[in-house]
Amino acid sequence: MSKKVIGLPGDGIGPEVYAQAVRVLKQLDEQFNLNIDLHEHQIGGAAIDLHGNPLPQETIDACRDADAILLGAIGGPKWEGLQGADRPEAGLLKIRKTFNLYANLRPVSLQESLSELSPLKKDRLVGVDMLIVRELTGGLYFGKKFREGDSATDTCTYSVSEIERITRLAFSIAKGRRNKVSSVDKANVMETSRLWRETVNRIHTQEFPEVDLEHVLVDACAMHLISKPSAFDVILTENLFGDILSDEASMLSGSLGVLPSASLSKQDPSQGIALYEPIHGSAPDIAGQGIANPAAMLLSVAMMLRHSLQHEESAALLEKAVFDSWNAGVFTADLSNENSVGSKAFTDSVLSNISRSV
Ligand code: NAD
Ligand code: IPM
Ligand code: MN
Repeated sequence: MSKKVIGLPGDGIGPEVYAQAVRVLKQLDEQFNLNIDLHEHQIGGAAIDLHGNPLPQETIDACRDADAILLGAIGGPKWEGLQGADRPEAGLLKIRKTFNLYANLRPVSLQESLSELSPLKKDRLVGVDMLIVRELTGGLYFGKKFREGDSATDTCTYSVSEIERITRLAFSIAKGRRNKVSSVDKANVMETSRLWRETVNRIHTQEFPEVDLEHVLVDACAMHLISKPSAFDVILTENLFGDILSDEASMLSGSLGVLPSASLSKQDPSQGIALYEPIHGSAPDIAGQGIANPAAMLLSVAMMLRHSLQHEESAALLEKAVFDSWNAGVFTADLSNENSVGSKAFTDSVLSNISRSV
């Protein structure tokens, strides 16, 4: 049976890295007979331009019976003047909410070949291997927002059930890793964080007492990510904190351009729709130059192959092909100033590593 994948290239470097993902996906499809049925639709600024809406109904309909969604990135200066639900970002938030993609997994690890390229000292980076589990459909992103007179308000709401499901997912994943969860909140100030901490403690005691749990305040976490990053295994956190901490954590790996993500609607991804996307944005400062790092996008494809298409062999092969390109000294400009290659040439190298391995 074929696997239906909906591709949403988006804006800026989104379509540039997405195009490289399609090349890789096609080659893997041929090599492994994955039987992928890929259809492209619009989201973000591209959808505003074509349909007057950042998430058109036809995109939602196309995604409904998909096995997976593969997204580039959205947004950019062209649509900066738009407000609220008219903005490109609203399309991304709406697709997450529509498909109940509550669990955003952002793995952060270090490839030896990138350790010299990270802005952090190499000895600090030994053993870095963490997974940020970011709640994706609640919190400040989805609370009521309004202007009144000369003030503006964003509201942050979390319900017990929203916290419970992401907490269970984080603990379950931790059991298959180093058995440690660092729950990150701001319980010294925020009521939602106090509910978060209470709920995480209860689920821990009742259901996962064998997993090590620590609570870390978000400001201290931002510091520990730099001072002792290898101490983290699973970081469990709410929507906004997860957004900020994951961009920070990307620098442990070397660049924002190398971190992939999966957004799940079910703990077992084969049971529900999932969306795969790099954690970076549309990078307007480098868009149109063909120099964006496609690695975050290609590693997102690998996550899709592993989790939604349940094809471990092609997923592992793709990851190894990306890492081997780095091992061979093939770097895009975000990772190296010397002899850097563009998005296409980096992907050529990945493709040749893939075909050589058969
Ligand atoms: P950004 O992530 O687009 O870029 C931040 C910096 O990282 C830039 O200097 C950029 O050149 C660099 N960078 C990012 N990805 C890269 C890659 N693959 N290769 C090389 N360099 C890369 O963040 P921003 O500039 O703050 O935001 C730009 C737009 O993207 C905004 O409209 C924002 O809302 C949107 N955005 C979208 C997503 C998404 O689609 N998931 C994520 C973040 C930001
Ligand atoms: C991300 C992005 C989005 C977020 C924006 C574009 C809405 O920064 O996917 O990390 O904040 O979730
Ligand atoms: Mn972000």
